[in-house]
Amino acid sequence: MSLVLVTGGTGHLGRDLVSRLVEAGHRVRVLTRRPQPSPGVQWATGDLATGDGLRDALRGVHTVINAATCSPIARRGSMRPIDFIKSPAVVDVDGTARLLALGQDAGVQHFVHVSIVGLEDATLPYSRVKLAGEQLVRRSNLPWSVVRAMPFYYLLENLFAGLSWLPAWPVPTTILNPVDTSDVADHLVACAFDGGCGVRAEIGGPDDLSLVAIARDYLRTQGRRRIVLPMPLSDKSARGMGFVVSRGVRGTRSWIDWLNRNRVRANRG
Ligand SMILES: NC(=O)c1ccc[n+]([C@@H]2O[C@H](COP(=O)([O-])OP(=O)(O)OC[C@H]3O[C@@H](n4cnc5c(N)ncnc54)[C@H](OP(=O)(O)O)[C@@H]3O)[C@@H](O)[C@H]2O)c1
Repeated sequence: MSLVLVTGGTGHLGRDLVSRLVEAGHRVRVLTRRPQPSPGVQWATGDLATGDGLRDALRGVHTVINAATCSPIARRGSMRPIDFIKSPAVVDVDGTARLLALGQDAGVQHFVHVSIVGLEDATLPYSRVKLAGEQLVRRSNLPWSVVRAMPFYYLLENLFAGLSWLPAWPVPTTILNPVDTSDVADHLVACAFDGGCGVRAEIGGPDDLSLVAIARDYLRTQGRRRIVLPMPLSDKSARGMGFVVSRGVRGTRSWIDWLNRNRVRANRG
């Protein structure tokens, strides 16, 4: 089996990705700033923001799956005014550029890049950073695939958890189909090794849901009482926030199933 380098392999999507690759018998190397030795995985210490360790991490690699990101919103699980003004580009743009250039030197045969559905219309600075990173991949001389995904369930859960202190939640009445990272990981692994490249089918969750229903499902499964205030949002503003319905592949795990499984896991401690 050829060697696969996963950036972001310690993240939410990356952990699912690494376990699937290992199960499928691939040789897997994870690029991380903080290695966590575990059986069946090679660990490469490196930093996309500085370039440290990247050349060594890419040695002998056939396929790169680039799932690293620096999203302050995802990291802290809440939005702040600064997120509407700027977002760091050192990982998603500068780091992607480094990885592409060094990947070419190292003879990488397939560069699979994880991106987000609907970036063209999205206005948040993080979305603009993601679009710039994606464009670098599309212009690269390496054989590449871009796989766009809808927002992950874990992110929605974290954002709702961050609202807990508010007695009433203003929630846009927009429709979207968020997705579980396990479904995205399956799709990415298929795209990495099916012999295809280019812009691949985007992936979203199985159900088109209103954000209001998503919030109410969250509150019900958490046993929390909050007033949900439905707020109409224009199509343009909804697209600007990344609230769209994806085309292409649909995952299988539903939001409610994911919430229930997480609750059972949390109760088990
Ligand atoms: N979250 C969503 O809703 C969503 C939706 C669609 C697409 N995506 C995309 O899916 C991918 C994974 O997202 P995620 O939410 O699973 O990410 P995440 O949980 O926030 O994990 C981020 C990962 O990036 C790595 N990373 C951060 N800075 C780094 C640096 N300077 N050098 C090397 N690695 C660095 C981290 O590794 P270490 O800390 O171990 O170094 C970590 O593994 C991203 O491309 C994201 O844009 C996310």
